[in-house]
Amino acid sequence: MKIDNIFLKIIYDSRGQETLKAIMRSGNIEVSSSVPHGKSVGEKEVFVMNPYTAVRKFEKIKERILNVEFADINDFDGFLLELDGTKNKSAFGGNLILVLSQAFCYLAAKKEKLELWQYLEKYISIKGKRKDLPLFLFNLINGGQHAVSGPRIQEYMIVPQIKDLKVCLETAQIFFAGLKEYFKKEFGKNVFGDEGGLIMLGEDYTKPLEIFEEIRDQLNLKDKIRFSLDVAADSFYNREKEKYEIKEDKSVSQKELLEIYTKLITRFDILSIEDPFEENDFEGFKALATNRKIKTIIIGDDLTATNYEVLEKAIKLKAINGVIIKPTQIGTISETLKTINLAIKNKIKIIISHRSAETEDNFIADLAWASRAWALKSGAPQPEERMVKYNRLIQISNYEKNHLL
Ligand code: PGA
Ligand code: ZN
Repeated sequence: MKIDNIFLKIIYDSRGQETLKAIMRSGNIEVSSSVPHGKSVGEKEVFVMNPYTAVRKFEKIKERILNVEFADINDFDGFLLELDGTKNKSAFGGNLILVLSQAFCYLAAKKEKLELWQYLEKYISIKGKRKDLPLFLFNLINGGQHAVSGPRIQEYMIVPQIKDLKVCLETAQIFFAGLKEYFKKEFGKNVFGDEGGLIMLGEDYTKPLEIFEEIRDQLNLKDKIRFSLDVAADSFYNREKEKYEIKEDKSVSQKELLEIYTKLITRFDILSIEDPFEENDFEGFKALATNRKIKTIIIGDDLTATNYEVLEKAIKLKAINGVIIKPTQIGTISETLKTINLAIKNKIKIIISHRSAETEDNFIADLAWASRAWALKSGAPQPEERMVKYNRLIQISNYEKNHLL
């Protein structure tokens, strides 16, 4: 496939920060794609270029991309990686390379008259129908770096256990409505964080789970809702003191933090915990992931950064049983797919994830379906930039029901 033209635009993400959008043309087909931004960014992630600099840099390489015949996404990404020539994509920026990589996939899918997920599926190592629907991880209480106040644990999520994605979304919306009412009474008003969840006052990290339980029982959803956490522990780890500052007046060691988790897991119905320790503490992760008494799924995000080699290391060390996949962490779709295939091969659960500052691009929903992901994580069931991802996955699951099953 040859690309006839590419235009780059600067748009605003949900945090009001500038980000990149690419419009790509081939023949009479035109597609567009944009990229999100993270805040709790891991040190293993690729370099993010200032969007204005990225546009200027792109103008210099544009002519070299146009009119080249690309066989597929591997070929296209390989071409860009060679042009960049650095290990962490610092010449052009992971954001610039990814926005082009995503747009190429949209374009190639359209050329081949395929849905995006069908195009991506060609690069996934498992074939055939998916056995289970993906879960939705709805972030309803925002803490840590995504909130102006509240607990230092970054995300308190609910996970509906219902075999119909539309009903999962509706159930989460009912739950969220109950939570908003509770917060209004308790804190006087509703304030929302970066991912559209509610913000609370006070650093008590157990309280959100107590509130979740109360709402769940009030709504008679005991068998239908489980809870998940994204601790993003790196954000409150003090490297010099080697302590986790889980509250202003509570600084704990790795061992003490492990005990806190064990207590939370015993007390509440916690399905998964993401980034329970700082991003280089593979041993801490391992202590949780290999504890036979703990059934909770231990997920790496900043730990693994969608990076093939790092995931390989985490698997070898038995540090995780689930992995967050964010294309922005690695900067191309072909490398993202390679990391996904490694997770599949090793039976590591895949969670395809948005970032805290999003756009209305729903690429990750198709990626979640194509990769047989265990779950899609896209924030609260309310802001438009989060809803487009949930709705797209519902649409795909209906398509499969009607056409294939
Ligand atoms: P980020 O956070 O997008 O701000 O990095 C999301 C996460 O930690 O999962
Ligand atoms: Zn995370």
